[in-house]
Amino acid sequence: MKTLILSSDDEDIKKAAEIIMHGGIAAMPTETVYGLAADALNGNAVRKIFKAKGRPMDNPLIVHISDISQIYPLVRDFPEKAAILAEKFWPGPLTIILPKSDIIPVEVSAELNTVAIRFPSHKTAQKLISMSSPLAAPSANLSGSPSPTSFRHVLEDMNGRIDAVIDGGDCEVGVESTVITLAAEIPTLLRPGGITVEQLETAIGKIQISSAVTNPLAEGEKAESPGMKYRHYSPKAKVILLDGGNDAFYRYINKITDKDTAVLCYSEDIEHINLPYIPIGKRYDYDEQAHLLFTALRKADEMGFAAVYAHCPEKKGVGLAVYNRIIRAAGFNIIRLEGTENK
Ligand code: TXA
Ligand code: MG
Repeated sequence: MKTLILSSDDEDIKKAAEIIMHGGIAAMPTETVYGLAADALNGNAVRKIFKAKGRPMDNPLIVHISDISQIYPLVRDFPEKAAILAEKFWPGPLTIILPKSDIIPVEVSAELNTVAIRFPSHKTAQKLISMSSPLAAPSANLSGSPSPTSFRHVLEDMNGRIDAVIDGGDCEVGVESTVITLAAEIPTLLRPGGITVEQLETAIGKIQISSAVTNPLAEGEKAESPGMKYRHYSPKAKVILLDGGNDAFYRYINKITDKDTAVLCYSEDIEHINLPYIPIGKRYDYDEQAHLLFTALRKADEMGFAAVYAHCPEKKGVGLAVYNRIIRAAGFNIIRLEGTENK
């Protein structure tokens, strides 16, 4: 199939909306990562997303809205805590899981009785939704690879596999939305992102953090979020996370003699290491790290590295999202060194 390349002009967004309303699929920019969108109420269209991505059918999709009133037909219940979160963080990088209504096709919810809803702040995404329908959209990458944060990344993975792609430049946040479920007894964070645990707790009080945010699922354990089961965000290069203090990190790195090996590191590390490096921003600038991470992982492949050793991020604020993506990109291949993080 030929993929139609579209700009973010209203005319072009309208073309994408028409494609979607005729049951097609189109990639759209959002403030987090690019999404691959279909009409969320058209099960056959939604199936095309799974095919284009090579995504397992038991992994449910997020439904994107562009106006709060669109949520009511989609959910069975809209509890007070959801209203508070929506008021504070929408539009923005937060996904809320709620009990689903009967109009959600089984392809979207993957047979769960809940649905994930997000109201993105990106103007192009909002216009596309307003001109079409609530949109089911996972990240617009091939299943398993790093999420696309630029138009070029989308083309790399999806050219020829989808009907259209809208060029919206680079995504601001760079990691996917925070996912919280309010369908559980205690509000539970399933995926960290641009909205932090601290921000969520200020709004609605104590929340639980799913152990899968920082740990692999135990053998036979049921995933609270099916996406937790699968390999994720992985470049072709092997990723290894080094968890320990700065000195131990530099000692370990500077002993490596393997060819085709690079280091994913902070700008402050550069002067201390003798291997090729791919920087992901300053040590304490978690927003910058989130913004650069997926581009850096893709760069490792473009530069032909076979292995990438990553300096462990701090597990705080948006840093928790960066940590969560790197441990998955590394397939939980973590080497513990002396000291903790930067100390
Ligand atoms: O920022 C984002 O959220 C991006 C942009 C495009 O909006 N979308 C995104 O979608 O990251 P995706 O499909 O790549 O990740 C959605 C995650 C998956 O891990 C999925 O398993 C989980 O959310 N999820 C979706 N619906 C769920 C539900 N009803 N219950 C539990 N987890 C759910
Ligand atoms: Mg994804």
